[in-house]
Amino acid sequence: MSLLDKHKFIERNATLLLVGSLLVVSIGGIVEIAPLFYLENTIEKVDGMRPYSPLELAGRNIYIREGCYVCHSQMIRPFRDEVERYGHYSLAAESMYDHPFQWGSKRTGPDLARVGDRYSNEWHVQHLVEPRDVVPESVMPSYSFLKETPLEITDISMDLKANRTVGVPYSDEMIAEANADLKAQADPNADTSALLARYPKAKVGDFDGNPAKLTEMDALVAYLQMLGTLVDFSTYDDTTGYR
Ligand code: HEC
Repeated sequence: MSLLDKHKFIERNATLLLVGSLLVVSIGGIVEIAPLFYLENTIEKVDGMRPYSPLELAGRNIYIREGCYVCHSQMIRPFRDEVERYGHYSLAAESMYDHPFQWGSKRTGPDLARVGDRYSNEWHVQHLVEPRDVVPESVMPSYSFLKETPLEITDISMDLKANRTVGVPYSDEMIAEANADLKAQADPNADTSALLARYPKAKVGDFDGNPAKLTEMDALVAYLQMLGTLVDFSTYDDTTGYR
């Protein structure tokens, strides 16, 4: 039987063609899926990544509640124009503690993955209160009520616990101290050494311009100011992962 005849024979026998197709598709599937069972982790570990501090987590919840992700992405793609505008492209590890992730699919406003440290706290507060005061052509809505709304959280440790069940490595100590850490981070007079040991590089102090009151603005600005600041890209090497 010539090759062409064999082909014809298979093609004209529906059962044989079906069995043959299934065989080929399953081999392809196994080759793709099997290695994943043997990999300990599909995300490359990167120095500097840590879970969100309780205040940052509270800020992140407000970010999600207010739908900021509808206009802002948090993922810098590895293209020259993006890297020149926003900084180093996002690493998988940078969103490994995000549940749910905030990559986003629409950019009415700029990407926020590395907005931390780009502006002062005062700028953020002014911008969130009235975007057009600092960026006259802005179409972003005003969120001035955040500055007046007290940050009402009965027990942020529940939030840490919930994140731990989905794999975020919060320690028992972090959970036990969560409520105290939340207040200390936004209190300019608090001793924050233990907080900073638990959450290195966390920004501390008053965020909303009113040290007497803990508001939703404090939490949101604390969150914005840490975005993209954990990994030190002066020591990170794209080719090997570490330098
Ligand atoms: C309707 C779309 C829209 C929504 C919703 C929105 N923004 Fe924006 N945002 C924009 C636009 C457009 C800009 C660019 C102009 C400007 O800076 O105001 C912007 C700019 C920003 C910037 C400055 C970024 C930079 O690199 O200059 C920050 C920070 C920001 N937004 C935070 C937020 C936060 C936090 C929320 C939710 C509380 C939010 N935005 C909701 C549209 C939006």
